[in-house]
Amino acid sequence: MNIQNQLQATVEALVQQGKGILAMDESSPTIAKRFKPIGVESTEENRRSYRSMLLATPGLGEFVSGVILFEETLGQKADDGTPLPALAAQQGIVPGIKVDKGKLALANAPGDEITEGLDGLALRLESYKQQGARFAKWRDVYHISATTPSRLAIEANAEVLARYASICQTLGIVPIVEPEVLIDGDHSIDRCAEVTEAVLHEVFHALHCYHVILEHMLLKPNMVIPGKTHAQKASPEEVAEQTIRVLRRTVPAAVPSINFLSGGLTPEEATANLNAMNCLAPQPWDLSFSYGRALQQPALQAWKGNAGNAASTQAALYLRAKLNGAARHGSYSVTMEPAQE
Ligand code: 13P
Repeated sequence: MNIQNQLQATVEALVQQGKGILAMDESSPTIAKRFKPIGVESTEENRRSYRSMLLATPGLGEFVSGVILFEETLGQKADDGTPLPALAAQQGIVPGIKVDKGKLALANAPGDEITEGLDGLALRLESYKQQGARFAKWRDVYHISATTPSRLAIEANAEVLARYASICQTLGIVPIVEPEVLIDGDHSIDRCAEVTEAVLHEVFHALHCYHVILEHMLLKPNMVIPGKTHAQKASPEEVAEQTIRVLRRTVPAAVPSINFLSGGLTPEEATANLNAMNCLAPQPWDLSFSYGRALQQPALQAWKGNAGNAASTQAALYLRAKLNGAARHGSYSVTMEPAQE
């Protein structure tokens, strides 16, 4: 298959009715943060057994079309010796890989950050592809404050995302482009809308400059929401309206799918917001999910590091995947949530 056909086939496998992406690509410090509240030490073995358990969830492929893995996971095996990317593929789930190397302070832009990892990226991608990865993810972050993100941060991060995406496509790897405007802060939903619009505008300008084929990428943005410590929460309908307005102003119709990150929303909020967006008039792109915490949180709570809890852990993940699958059609309702104990 030539490169263009490879990209097209991967996009078609990822963008499917009623399905979205499971992000389980937490870096070592982040997975340690997720394990800590349930009293689990982040050892290589604990990470392997947790992640292989998630990938073995019966029926996961009904609602999950792709999974984003961390580099370490790509080389790990399930108890029976099946490589974890192959375990995903057996479920009809396309394996992908997080390829950025994290973020650091952006020089001369106080409070802003830039994502690293372009050096040697093409070589790394070749080897990830050998290990079964068909798509990749790169995340940039933007902090909202009175002075951030600066123009410099918006332009520098857009450029880096576009360079990453163009390198991926050259090698037949579908890039997920993830510019995340963070939830931290007390800003209003309008301020989040303003920043998200400026960020996405710049990202698509850079993607154009770098000749990225929009049909062969996915966008993974934040939803437009008020800051975590803002006085007022927004209803799913308000989030949907504000988010869609910004996306319609900035994201070309050629992009096949927009797969939101959950970014610190509760699992229920993330599902309800996605559902509300899919209840609005049809949009030029699919509106789907690429959640990490919003899919995994209940599973982590059920697991608690105990292999004996595998069935309830998998059931918790399956339920969240199913509810988000319903939100893809706008047919989710809170009455589908399990009763709170
Ligand atoms: P969250 O859904 O937890 O934000 O994670 C998604 C992700 O992949 C962040 O890069």
